[in-house]
Amino acid sequence: MSTNSYQKPDFWSQKAFKEGYPARSVYKLQEIDKKFGFIKKNSRVLDLGASPGSWTVFVLRQLDGSGHVTSIDLNPLSKNVKSSNLTFIQGDLYSEEIRSAALALGPYNLVICDAAPPTTGNRVIDTARSSGLVELAIYYAETMLQPGGNFAVKIFQGGDQQMLLKKMREIFTEAKGFKPAACRSESFETYLIGLNKKA
Ligand SMILES: C[S@@+](CC[C@H](N)C(=O)[O-])C[C@H]1O[C@@H](n2cnc3c(N)ncnc32)[C@H](O)[C@@H]1O
Repeated sequence: MSTNSYQKPDFWSQKAFKEGYPARSVYKLQEIDKKFGFIKKNSRVLDLGASPGSWTVFVLRQLDGSGHVTSIDLNPLSKNVKSSNLTFIQGDLYSEEIRSAALALGPYNLVICDAAPPTTGNRVIDTARSSGLVELAIYYAETMLQPGGNFAVKIFQGGDQQMLLKKMREIFTEAKGFKPAACRSESFETYLIGLNKKA
């Protein structure tokens, strides 16, 4: 069996590179924003699991000099992702220190989370870890979003999706799944969307 894990840049990766985004994942957020009208000028946005930074760059471009983005990741952002409207915090989303730092820069109008656990190839383990990250992202949204705020989070399908949507319906007026066309065809990731945080 081949051990070569190289993946040829596909259409979306090449397009991202040409348009100045560090990763192809930007087109998933673009589709989410187009469908749900998430990113509004002057918004304060919290981007969880942000490295290398294509979602951060997309949000900064949409905000066009207004508002503020707080981005968090274990890994640094790509070196050319910079803005006076951006605060980057490097660390683990599970840590108390990182939660406090995010809270201090809030409240937010939008929380987006594209965080993904390191995959093992074991679908049961990978979906469980993804569900754990989604639960954590819901905690950030619940405690740091303003009323009326919106939320999008990546999840690996097949785990606790229905239970997590149920939890989101307690917090948001509406909660649903959405799979952008830009997700790789073989990928089992999808997104959960929470609209209009209840007061
Ligand atoms: C798919 S990448 C995000 C891509 C990003 N949205 C972009 O457009 O450039 C997933 C990220 O989640 C981050 N991540 C996973 N678990 C994390 C944790 N516990 N704390 C912070 N970041 C985490 C990883 O380090 C990785 O950079």
